[in-house]
Amino acid sequence: MDIKNICCIGAGYVGGPTMAIIAKYCPDIQINVVDINPDRISQWNASELKDLPIYEPGLKEIVEKCRGKNLHFSTEMKKNISAADLIFISVNTPTKTKGIGSGQAIDLKYVEASSREISKYSKGHTIVVEKSTLPVKTAQTIKAILDAAQKDKSNLENKKTFSVLSNPEFLAEGTAIKDLENPDRVLIGGDDDDAINDLVNIYSKWIEKDKVLRTDLWSSELSKLISNAFLAQRISSINTISALCEATGAKIKDVSLAVGMDRRIGRYFLNSGPGFGGSCFKKDISNLVYISNHYGLFDVAEYWQKVLDINTWQQKRFVELIVNNMFGTISSKKIAVLGFSFKANTNDTRESPAINICKKLIEEGAFLKIYDPKVKKSQIMKDLSSIEKDIDSKKWGYSNSIYSTFENADAALFLTEWGEFASLNWERISNIMRQPAWVFDTRSIVDINQVRGNGISIWQVGYGN
Ligand code: NAD
Ligand code: UGA
Repeated sequence: MDIKNICCIGAGYVGGPTMAIIAKYCPDIQINVVDINPDRISQWNASELKDLPIYEPGLKEIVEKCRGKNLHFSTEMKKNISAADLIFISVNTPTKTKGIGSGQAIDLKYVEASSREISKYSKGHTIVVEKSTLPVKTAQTIKAILDAAQKDKSNLENKKTFSVLSNPEFLAEGTAIKDLENPDRVLIGGDDDDAINDLVNIYSKWIEKDKVLRTDLWSSELSKLISNAFLAQRISSINTISALCEATGAKIKDVSLAVGMDRRIGRYFLNSGPGFGGSCFKKDISNLVYISNHYGLFDVAEYWQKVLDINTWQQKRFVELIVNNMFGTISSKKIAVLGFSFKANTNDTRESPAINICKKLIEEGAFLKIYDPKVKKSQIMKDLSSIEKDIDSKKWGYSNSIYSTFENADAALFLTEWGEFASLNWERISNIMRQPAWVFDTRSIVDINQVRGNGISIWQVGYGN
Protein backbone atom coordinates (compact mmCIF):
# COMPACT_ATOMS: atom_id res chain seq x y z
CA MET A 1 0.00 0.00 0.00
CA ASP A 2 1.23 3.49 -0.80
CA ILE A 3 0.90 5.38 2.50
CA LYS A 4 -0.36 8.87 1.71
CA ASN A 5 -2.06 9.80 4.93
CA ILE A 6 -1.01 9.17 8.54
CA CYS A 7 -2.94 9.92 11.70
CA CYS A 8 -1.26 9.93 15.10
CA ILE A 9 -3.51 9.66 18.16
CA GLY A 10 -1.82 11.53 21.02
CA ALA A 11 0.02 14.84 20.58
CA GLY A 12 2.42 14.36 23.49
CA TYR A 13 6.17 14.07 24.01
CA VAL A 14 6.27 11.12 21.61
CA GLY A 15 3.48 11.87 19.13
CA GLY A 16 4.52 15.49 18.47
CA PRO A 17 8.27 15.07 17.80
CA THR A 18 7.90 11.67 16.05
CA MET A 19 5.34 12.99 13.59
CA ALA A 20 7.38 16.17 13.05
CA ILE A 21 10.32 14.01 11.91
CA ILE A 22 8.18 11.86 9.60
CA ALA A 23 6.72 15.08 8.16
CA LYS A 24 10.23 16.44 7.57
CA TYR A 25 11.44 13.38 5.69
CA CYS A 26 8.21 12.40 3.93
CA PRO A 27 6.87 15.58 2.33
CA ASP A 28 4.43 13.55 0.20
CA ILE A 29 2.62 12.15 3.24
CA GLN A 30 -0.07 14.18 4.99
CA ILE A 31 0.20 13.79 8.77
CA ASN A 32 -2.54 14.66 11.23
CA VAL A 33 -1.79 14.55 14.93
CA VAL A 34 -4.98 14.40 16.98
CA ASP A 35 -5.58 14.74 20.70
CA ILE A 36 -8.54 14.89 23.06
CA ASN A 37 -6.90 17.76 24.89
CA PRO A 38 -7.83 20.98 23.05
CA ASP A 39 -5.31 23.07 25.04
CA ARG A 40 -2.47 20.87 23.91
CA ILE A 41 -3.59 21.14 20.28
CA SER A 42 -3.83 24.92 20.45
CA GLN A 43 -0.32 25.03 21.90
CA TRP A 44 0.94 22.96 18.96
CA ASN A 45 -0.79 25.46 16.68
CA ALA A 46 0.59 28.50 18.58
CA SER A 47 1.80 31.27 16.29
CA GLU A 48 4.80 31.88 18.57
CA LEU A 49 7.01 28.78 18.33
CA LYS A 50 8.27 29.36 21.86
CA ASP A 51 4.76 28.47 23.05
CA LEU A 52 4.84 24.89 21.71
CA PRO A 53 3.83 22.48 24.51
CA ILE A 54 7.17 20.69 24.45
CA TYR A 55 10.69 22.02 24.61
CA GLU A 56 13.09 19.85 22.58
CA PRO A 57 16.23 21.18 20.94
CA GLY A 58 15.64 21.32 17.15
CA LEU A 59 11.88 20.71 17.33
CA LYS A 60 10.57 24.19 16.68
CA GLU A 61 12.58 24.55 13.47
CA ILE A 62 10.95 21.41 12.03
CA VAL A 63 7.47 22.43 13.17
CA GLU A 64 8.01 25.84 11.58
CA LYS A 65 8.95 24.20 8.28
CA CYS A 66 6.21 21.56 8.09
CA ARG A 67 3.22 22.85 10.06
CA GLY A 68 0.30 23.74 7.80
CA LYS A 69 1.98 21.97 4.85
CA ASN A 70 2.05 18.24 5.64
CA LEU A 71 1.92 18.39 9.45
CA HIS A 72 -1.35 19.32 11.14
CA PHE A 73 -2.55 19.33 14.75
CA SER A 74 -6.24 18.93 15.44
CA THR A 75 -8.93 17.66 17.80
CA GLU A 76 -10.95 16.18 14.92
CA MET A 77 -10.80 12.43 15.38
CA LYS A 78 -13.45 11.26 12.94
CA LYS A 79 -12.18 13.07 9.85
CA ASN A 80 -8.51 12.32 10.44
CA ILE A 81 -8.95 8.67 11.41
CA SER A 82 -11.17 7.94 8.43
CA ALA A 83 -8.69 9.53 6.02
CA ALA A 84 -5.69 7.60 7.38
CA ASP A 85 -3.92 4.66 5.73
CA LEU A 86 -1.79 4.20 8.84
CA ILE A 87 -2.53 5.21 12.43
CA PHE A 88 -0.02 5.50 15.26
CA ILE A 89 -1.41 5.05 18.77
CA SER A 90 0.79 7.32 20.85
CA VAL A 91 -1.35 7.97 23.90
CA ASN A 92 -0.23 7.96 27.52
CA THR A 93 -0.12 4.64 29.38
CA PRO A 94 -0.02 5.59 33.07
CA THR A 95 0.19 3.31 36.06
CA LYS A 96 -3.20 2.37 37.51
CA THR A 97 -3.99 4.33 40.63
CA LYS A 98 -7.03 2.31 41.71
CA GLY A 99 -8.35 -1.24 41.71
CA ILE A 100 -6.59 -4.43 40.66
CA GLY A 101 -2.87 -3.87 40.10
CA SER A 102 -3.04 -0.34 41.52
CA GLY A 103 0.45 1.24 41.66
CA GLN A 104 1.92 -1.32 39.25
CA ALA A 105 -0.23 -2.35 36.31
CA ILE A 106 -0.66 -0.10 33.29
CA ASP A 107 -4.00 1.61 32.80
CA LEU A 108 -4.86 0.82 29.21
CA LYS A 109 -8.00 2.96 29.09
CA TYR A 110 -6.52 5.49 26.64
CA VAL A 111 -5.24 2.75 24.33
CA GLU A 112 -8.61 1.05 24.45
CA ALA A 113 -10.44 4.33 23.76
CA SER A 114 -8.15 4.98 20.77
CA SER A 115 -8.80 1.49 19.41
CA ARG A 116 -12.52 2.04 19.70
CA GLU A 117 -12.26 5.37 17.84
CA ILE A 118 -10.29 3.61 15.10
CA SER A 119 -12.80 0.79 14.86
CA LYS A 120 -15.62 3.32 14.57
CA TYR A 121 -14.20 5.82 12.09
CA SER A 122 -11.62 4.04 9.94
CA LYS A 123 -12.36 3.19 6.31
CA GLY A 124 -10.93 0.49 4.06
CA HIS A 125 -7.66 -1.15 5.11
CA THR A 126 -5.83 0.54 7.98
CA ILE A 127 -2.46 -0.26 9.49
CA VAL A 128 -2.62 0.33 13.25
CA VAL A 129 0.75 0.85 14.91
CA GLU A 130 1.39 0.69 18.66
CA LYS A 131 3.80 3.53 19.39
CA SER A 132 3.00 3.79 23.10
CA THR A 133 4.93 1.54 25.49
CA LEU A 134 2.60 -1.34 26.29
CA PRO A 135 2.47 -4.47 28.42
CA VAL A 136 3.34 -7.57 26.43
CA LYS A 137 0.27 -8.94 24.66
CA THR A 138 -1.62 -5.63 24.43
CA ALA A 139 -1.85 -6.07 20.66
CA GLN A 140 -4.28 -8.89 21.46
CA THR A 141 -6.64 -6.37 23.11
CA ILE A 142 -6.35 -3.93 20.23
CA LYS A 143 -6.97 -6.72 17.71
CA ALA A 144 -10.02 -7.91 19.66
CA ILE A 145 -11.56 -4.43 19.53
CA LEU A 146 -10.79 -4.02 15.84
CA ASP A 147 -12.02 -7.54 15.04
CA ALA A 148 -15.37 -6.62 16.59
CA ALA A 149 -15.60 -3.73 14.10
CA GLN A 150 -14.81 -6.09 11.23
CA LYS A 151 -17.64 -8.39 12.30
CA ASP A 152 -20.12 -5.51 12.66
CA LYS A 153 -22.95 -5.65 10.10
CA SER A 154 -22.34 -2.07 8.99
CA ASN A 155 -18.89 -3.22 7.90
CA LEU A 156 -20.41 -4.98 4.92
CA GLU A 157 -20.50 -1.70 3.00
CA ASN A 158 -17.41 -0.03 4.56
CA LYS A 159 -15.24 -3.16 4.38
CA LYS A 160 -12.91 -2.27 7.22
CA THR A 161 -9.80 -4.37 7.65
CA PHE A 162 -6.79 -3.89 9.91
CA SER A 163 -3.17 -4.91 10.44
CA VAL A 164 -1.72 -4.36 13.89
CA LEU A 165 2.00 -3.69 14.35
CA SER A 166 4.17 -2.88 17.34
CA ASN A 167 6.73 -0.14 16.77
CA PRO A 168 7.89 1.11 20.18
CA GLU A 169 9.69 4.42 20.52
CA PHE A 170 13.14 4.67 22.10
CA LEU A 171 13.67 8.45 22.04
CA ALA A 172 14.85 10.15 25.20
CA GLU A 173 13.60 13.60 26.14
CA GLY A 174 16.05 16.42 25.59
CA THR A 175 17.61 14.52 22.67
CA ALA A 176 14.37 13.49 20.95
CA ILE A 177 15.17 15.00 17.56
CA LYS A 178 18.67 13.57 17.46
CA ASP A 179 17.38 10.15 18.57
CA LEU A 180 14.60 10.16 15.98
CA GLU A 181 16.90 11.24 13.16
CA ASN A 182 19.58 8.71 14.05
CA PRO A 183 18.13 5.87 16.13
CA ASP A 184 20.16 2.85 17.24
CA ARG A 185 17.38 0.66 15.84
CA VAL A 186 13.81 0.73 14.60
CA LEU A 187 11.90 -2.17 16.08
CA ILE A 188 8.83 -3.49 14.26
CA GLY A 189 6.83 -6.43 15.53
CA GLY A 190 4.02 -8.05 13.59
CA ASP A 191 2.89 -10.91 11.42
CA ASP A 192 1.73 -9.04 8.31
CA ASP A 193 4.76 -8.65 6.02
CA ASP A 194 3.02 -6.19 3.70
CA ALA A 195 2.14 -3.86 6.57
CA ILE A 196 5.67 -4.13 7.96
CA ASN A 197 7.11 -3.29 4.53
CA ASP A 198 4.87 -0.22 4.32
CA LEU A 199 6.15 1.03 7.67
CA VAL A 200 9.76 0.21 6.77
CA ASN A 201 9.34 2.27 3.57
CA ILE A 202 8.47 5.33 5.67
CA TYR A 203 11.50 4.97 7.97
CA SER A 204 13.82 4.18 5.08
CA LYS A 205 13.41 7.77 3.86
CA TRP A 206 16.06 8.70 6.45
CA ILE A 207 17.20 5.54 8.27
CA GLU A 208 19.36 2.75 6.83
CA LYS A 209 17.31 -0.41 6.31
CA ASP A 210 19.78 -2.55 8.26
CA LYS A 211 18.80 -0.67 11.42
CA VAL A 212 15.29 -2.10 11.16
CA LEU A 213 14.72 -5.12 13.37
CA ARG A 214 11.66 -7.25 12.61
CA THR A 215 10.21 -9.51 15.31
CA ASP A 216 6.90 -10.99 16.35
CA LEU A 217 4.46 -8.74 18.22
CA TRP A 218 5.16 -10.02 21.73
CA SER A 219 8.95 -9.78 21.43
CA SER A 220 8.66 -6.22 20.20
CA GLU A 221 6.31 -5.15 23.00
CA LEU A 222 8.48 -6.82 25.65
CA SER A 223 11.79 -5.49 24.26
CA LYS A 224 10.68 -1.93 24.87
CA LEU A 225 9.90 -2.60 28.54
CA ILE A 226 13.17 -4.45 29.00
CA SER A 227 15.26 -1.72 27.35
CA ASN A 228 13.93 0.78 29.87
CA ALA A 229 14.41 -1.69 32.72
CA PHE A 230 18.07 -2.28 31.80
CA LEU A 231 18.75 1.46 31.56
CA ALA A 232 17.14 2.12 34.94
CA GLN A 233 18.98 -0.84 36.46
CA ARG A 234 22.33 0.72 35.51
CA ILE A 235 21.34 3.97 37.22
CA SER A 236 20.32 2.18 40.41
CA SER A 237 23.55 0.16 40.30
CA ILE A 238 25.76 3.23 39.99
CA ASN A 239 23.74 5.05 42.67
CA THR A 240 24.44 2.29 45.19
CA ILE A 241 28.13 2.70 44.37
CA SER A 242 27.94 6.48 44.85
CA ALA A 243 27.15 5.82 48.52
CA LEU A 244 30.06 3.39 48.76
CA CYS A 245 32.38 5.99 47.23
CA GLU A 246 31.24 8.59 49.77
CA ALA A 247 31.93 6.11 52.58
CA THR A 248 35.37 5.08 51.34
CA GLY A 249 36.79 8.21 49.68
CA ALA A 250 36.76 6.73 46.16
CA LYS A 251 35.51 9.06 43.41
CA ILE A 252 32.38 8.00 41.56
CA LYS A 253 33.33 9.66 38.26
CA ASP A 254 36.62 7.78 38.18
CA VAL A 255 34.89 4.52 39.06
CA SER A 256 32.25 5.07 36.32
CA LEU A 257 34.96 5.85 33.80
CA ALA A 258 37.07 2.85 34.69
CA VAL A 259 34.10 0.49 34.66
CA GLY A 260 32.56 1.97 31.50
CA MET A 261 35.79 1.71 29.50
CA ASP A 262 35.26 -2.02 29.42
CA ARG A 263 33.54 -2.41 26.04
CA ARG A 264 31.39 -5.22 27.42
CA ILE A 265 29.91 -2.77 29.95
CA GLY A 266 29.93 0.49 27.97
CA ARG A 267 30.17 4.06 29.21
CA TYR A 268 26.56 5.26 29.00
CA PHE A 269 24.11 5.53 31.87
CA LEU A 270 26.74 5.42 34.56
CA ASN A 271 26.19 8.92 35.98
CA SER A 272 25.10 8.81 39.58
CA GLY A 273 22.51 11.37 40.63
CA PRO A 274 19.27 11.90 42.53
CA GLY A 275 17.69 8.81 40.97
CA PHE A 276 15.91 8.39 37.68
CA GLY A 277 12.84 10.47 36.96
CA GLY A 278 10.73 10.91 33.85
CA SER A 279 7.38 9.54 32.91
CA CYS A 280 8.52 6.06 31.95
CA PHE A 281 11.20 4.26 33.98
CA LYS A 282 9.17 3.95 37.16
CA LYS A 283 5.96 3.10 35.35
CA ASP A 284 7.59 0.58 33.03
CA ILE A 285 9.54 -1.24 35.74
CA SER A 286 6.49 -1.29 38.00
CA ASN A 287 4.69 -2.89 35.10
CA LEU A 288 7.48 -5.42 34.65
CA VAL A 289 7.15 -6.30 38.34
CA TYR A 290 3.39 -6.67 37.90
CA ILE A 291 3.70 -8.86 34.81
CA SER A 292 6.34 -11.08 36.45
CA ASN A 293 4.11 -11.59 39.49
CA HIS A 294 1.17 -12.25 37.18
CA TYR A 295 3.08 -15.14 35.58
CA GLY A 296 4.11 -16.46 39.00
CA LEU A 297 7.75 -15.38 38.58
CA PHE A 298 8.07 -13.93 42.07
CA ASP A 299 11.89 -13.89 42.22
CA VAL A 300 12.01 -12.04 38.91
CA ALA A 301 9.52 -9.50 40.26
CA GLU A 302 11.54 -9.04 43.44
CA TYR A 303 14.76 -8.48 41.47
CA TRP A 304 13.26 -5.62 39.43
CA GLN A 305 11.43 -4.15 42.44
CA LYS A 306 14.84 -3.58 44.02
CA VAL A 307 15.78 -1.24 41.13
CA LEU A 308 12.83 0.94 42.12
CA ASP A 309 13.57 0.69 45.84
CA ILE A 310 17.15 1.89 45.39
CA ASN A 311 15.85 4.90 43.47
CA THR A 312 13.68 5.97 46.41
CA TRP A 313 16.48 5.20 48.86
CA GLN A 314 18.91 7.50 47.04
CA GLN A 315 16.51 10.46 47.37
CA LYS A 316 15.80 9.74 51.03
CA ARG A 317 19.47 9.55 51.87
CA PHE A 318 20.15 12.91 50.15
CA VAL A 319 17.56 14.67 52.29
CA GLU A 320 18.97 13.13 55.48
CA LEU A 321 22.44 14.15 54.45
CA ILE A 322 21.38 17.77 53.83
CA VAL A 323 19.69 18.02 57.23
CA ASN A 324 22.64 16.41 59.03
CA ASN A 325 25.19 18.71 57.44
CA MET A 326 23.15 21.81 58.27
CA PHE A 327 23.51 21.33 62.04
CA GLY A 328 20.64 18.82 62.20
CA THR A 329 17.88 21.24 61.21
CA ILE A 330 16.76 23.15 58.14
CA SER A 331 13.69 24.65 59.80
CA SER A 332 13.28 28.30 58.67
CA LYS A 333 16.43 28.05 56.56
CA LYS A 334 16.45 29.12 52.95
CA ILE A 335 17.53 26.60 50.34
CA ALA A 336 18.16 27.59 46.73
CA VAL A 337 17.01 24.77 44.45
CA LEU A 338 18.70 24.70 41.06
CA GLY A 339 16.82 22.67 38.48
CA PHE A 340 13.37 21.11 38.67
CA SER A 341 13.00 19.15 35.40
CA PHE A 342 13.82 15.43 35.61
CA LYS A 343 16.89 15.93 33.42
CA ALA A 344 18.52 18.74 31.45
CA ASN A 345 17.20 20.08 28.13
CA THR A 346 13.55 19.35 28.80
CA ASN A 347 10.71 21.20 30.52
CA ASP A 348 9.20 17.87 31.60
CA THR A 349 8.86 17.39 35.36
CA ARG A 350 7.02 14.07 35.40
CA GLU A 351 8.40 11.91 38.25
CA SER A 352 11.25 14.39 38.63
CA PRO A 353 13.38 13.55 41.69
CA ALA A 354 13.04 17.27 42.50
CA ILE A 355 9.37 16.80 43.42
CA ASN A 356 9.98 14.29 46.20
CA ILE A 357 13.14 15.92 47.47
CA CYS A 358 11.49 19.36 47.64
CA LYS A 359 8.48 17.87 49.41
CA LYS A 360 10.72 16.36 52.10
CA LEU A 361 12.70 19.59 52.55
CA ILE A 362 9.46 21.55 52.94
CA GLU A 363 8.28 19.00 55.52
CA GLU A 364 11.51 19.70 57.44
CA GLY A 365 10.48 23.37 57.55
CA ALA A 366 12.82 24.86 54.92
CA PHE A 367 11.86 27.69 52.56
CA LEU A 368 12.76 26.83 48.95
CA LYS A 369 13.67 29.29 46.21
CA ILE A 370 13.40 27.31 42.99
CA TYR A 371 15.03 28.12 39.66
CA ASP A 372 14.80 26.16 36.41
CA PRO A 373 15.61 27.62 33.00
CA LYS A 374 12.67 25.87 31.27
CA VAL A 375 10.07 24.84 33.85
CA LYS A 376 7.35 27.41 34.45
CA LYS A 377 6.20 28.56 37.89
CA SER A 378 2.69 27.17 37.31
CA GLN A 379 4.12 23.69 36.61
CA ILE A 380 6.19 23.68 39.82
CA MET A 381 3.17 24.86 41.78
CA LYS A 382 1.10 22.04 40.27
CA ASP A 383 3.76 19.42 41.07
CA LEU A 384 4.28 20.58 44.64
CA SER A 385 0.53 20.87 45.29
CA SER A 386 0.00 17.33 44.06
CA ILE A 387 2.02 15.94 46.94
CA GLU A 388 1.78 18.58 49.64
CA LYS A 389 -1.49 20.15 50.75
CA ASP A 390 -1.42 23.85 51.73
CA ILE A 391 1.57 24.65 49.59
CA ASP A 392 1.97 28.42 49.46
CA SER A 393 4.39 31.31 49.14
CA LYS A 394 5.52 30.81 52.75
CA LYS A 395 7.02 27.47 51.73
CA TRP A 396 8.52 28.19 48.34
CA GLY A 397 9.15 30.95 45.82
CA TYR A 398 9.94 30.96 42.10
CA SER A 399 13.10 32.55 40.87
CA ASN A 400 13.31 34.14 37.42
CA SER A 401 17.03 34.67 37.38
CA ILE A 402 19.78 32.33 38.41
CA TYR A 403 21.86 34.57 40.68
CA SER A 404 18.95 36.02 42.64
CA THR A 405 18.10 32.41 43.63
CA PHE A 406 21.13 32.37 45.94
CA GLU A 407 20.31 35.61 47.82
CA ASN A 408 20.46 34.97 51.58
CA ALA A 409 20.32 31.21 51.02
CA ASP A 410 21.89 28.94 53.61
CA ALA A 411 22.35 26.19 51.06
CA ALA A 412 22.17 25.60 47.32
CA LEU A 413 20.89 22.27 46.07
CA PHE A 414 21.61 21.23 42.47
CA LEU A 415 19.04 18.74 41.18
CA THR A 416 19.22 18.96 37.38
CA GLU A 417 22.38 18.98 35.28
CA TRP A 418 21.59 22.12 33.23
CA GLY A 419 24.73 23.26 31.35
CA GLU A 420 24.59 26.78 32.79
CA PHE A 421 25.14 25.39 36.31
CA ALA A 422 28.65 24.25 35.38
CA SER A 423 30.07 27.74 34.90
CA LEU A 424 28.69 29.86 37.74
CA ASN A 425 30.54 32.80 39.28
CA TRP A 426 31.12 31.42 42.79
CA GLU A 427 32.72 34.60 44.07
CA ARG A 428 29.50 36.47 43.31
CA ILE A 429 27.40 33.71 44.84
CA SER A 430 29.51 33.52 47.98
CA ASN A 431 28.89 37.23 48.58
CA ILE A 432 25.11 36.87 48.49
CA MET A 433 24.59 33.58 50.39
CA ARG A 434 24.22 33.56 54.18
CA GLN A 435 27.34 32.13 55.80
CA PRO A 436 28.22 29.46 56.72
CA ALA A 437 26.85 28.29 53.38
CA TRP A 438 26.55 24.82 51.86
CA VAL A 439 26.32 23.46 48.34
CA PHE A 440 24.72 20.04 47.78
CA ASP A 441 25.43 18.87 44.29
CA THR A 442 23.44 15.74 43.41
CA ARG A 443 24.65 15.75 39.78
CA SER A 444 28.40 16.44 40.22
CA ILE A 445 27.96 19.46 37.96
CA VAL A 446 29.61 22.33 39.82
CA ASP A 447 33.33 23.03 40.09
CA ILE A 448 34.23 21.80 43.57
CA ASN A 449 37.45 23.86 43.76
CA GLN A 450 35.68 27.09 42.82
CA VAL A 451 33.03 26.50 45.49
CA ARG A 452 35.52 25.63 48.24
CA GLY A 453 37.90 28.39 47.10
CA ASN A 454 35.12 30.89 47.80
CA GLY A 455 34.54 29.70 51.35
CA ILE A 456 31.49 27.51 50.78
CA SER A 457 31.25 23.93 52.07
CA ILE A 458 30.29 21.38 49.43
CA TRP A 459 28.95 17.85 49.27
CA GLN A 460 28.92 16.14 45.89
CA VAL A 461 27.29 12.82 45.05
CA GLY A 462 29.82 10.00 45.07
CA TYR A 463 32.68 11.97 46.66
CA GLY A 464 33.83 11.45 50.23
CA ASN A 465 34.79 14.55 52.23
P1 NAD B 1 1.90 12.37 26.86
O1 NAD B 1 1.07 12.33 28.07
O2 NAD B 1 2.87 13.48 26.67
O3 NAD B 1 0.95 12.40 25.57
C1 NAD B 1 -0.11 11.53 25.38
C2 NAD B 1 -1.27 12.31 24.75
O4 NAD B 1 -2.30 11.41 24.40
C3 NAD B 1 -1.91 13.35 25.67
O5 NAD B 1 -1.80 14.64 25.08
C4 NAD B 1 -3.36 12.89 25.81
O6 NAD B 1 -4.28 13.96 25.88
C5 NAD B 1 -3.53 12.10 24.54
N1 NAD B 1 -4.64 11.14 24.58
C6 NAD B 1 -4.96 10.27 25.57
N2 NAD B 1 -6.03 9.54 25.20
C7 NAD B 1 -6.41 9.96 23.97
C8 NAD B 1 -7.44 9.58 23.07
N3 NAD B 1 -8.31 8.61 23.36
N4 NAD B 1 -7.54 10.23 21.89
C9 NAD B 1 -6.67 11.21 21.58
N5 NAD B 1 -5.66 11.61 22.39
C10 NAD B 1 -5.53 10.98 23.57
O7 NAD B 1 2.63 10.97 26.76
P2 NAD B 1 4.03 10.66 26.05
O8 NAD B 1 5.15 11.04 26.92
O9 NAD B 1 3.97 11.18 24.64
O10 NAD B 1 4.00 9.06 26.04
C11 NAD B 1 3.14 8.36 25.17
C12 NAD B 1 3.56 6.90 25.18
O11 NAD B 1 4.89 6.77 24.66
C13 NAD B 1 3.61 6.24 26.56
O12 NAD B 1 3.21 4.90 26.43
C14 NAD B 1 5.07 6.30 26.95
O13 NAD B 1 5.42 5.26 27.83
C15 NAD B 1 5.74 6.11 25.61
N6 NAD B 1 7.08 6.71 25.48
C16 NAD B 1 7.34 7.94 26.01
C17 NAD B 1 8.60 8.52 25.83
C18 NAD B 1 8.92 9.87 26.39
O14 NAD B 1 10.09 10.25 26.33
N7 NAD B 1 7.99 10.62 26.93
C19 NAD B 1 9.56 7.83 25.10
C20 NAD B 1 9.25 6.58 24.56
C21 NAD B 1 8.00 6.03 24.76
C1 UGA C 1 14.20 7.03 28.71
C2 UGA C 1 15.05 6.16 27.77
O1 UGA C 1 16.39 6.65 27.75
C3 UGA C 1 14.48 6.18 26.35
O2 UGA C 1 15.21 5.28 25.52
C4 UGA C 1 13.01 5.75 26.39
O3 UGA C 1 12.45 5.83 25.09
C5 UGA C 1 12.25 6.65 27.34
O4 UGA C 1 12.85 6.61 28.66
C6 UGA C 1 10.82 6.26 27.52
O5 UGA C 1 10.45 5.13 27.26
O6 UGA C 1 10.12 7.13 28.00
P1 UGA C 1 14.04 9.62 29.24
O7 UGA C 1 13.28 9.18 30.44
O8 UGA C 1 13.48 10.68 28.40
O9 UGA C 1 14.31 8.37 28.27
O10 UGA C 1 15.48 10.13 29.70
P2 UGA C 1 16.83 9.39 30.16
O11 UGA C 1 17.95 10.08 29.51
O12 UGA C 1 16.77 7.93 29.98
O13 UGA C 1 16.87 9.75 31.70
C7 UGA C 1 15.98 9.16 32.62
C8 UGA C 1 16.38 9.54 34.02
O14 UGA C 1 17.58 8.89 34.38
C9 UGA C 1 16.64 11.03 34.21
O15 UGA C 1 16.11 11.43 35.45
C10 UGA C 1 18.15 11.14 34.21
O16 UGA C 1 18.63 12.24 34.91
C11 UGA C 1 18.53 9.84 34.87
N1 UGA C 1 19.89 9.38 34.51
C12 UGA C 1 20.19 9.06 33.23
C13 UGA C 1 20.84 9.25 35.51
O17 UGA C 1 20.57 9.54 36.70
N2 UGA C 1 22.09 8.80 35.17
C14 UGA C 1 22.43 8.48 33.89
O18 UGA C 1 23.59 8.08 33.67
C15 UGA C 1 21.46 8.61 32.90
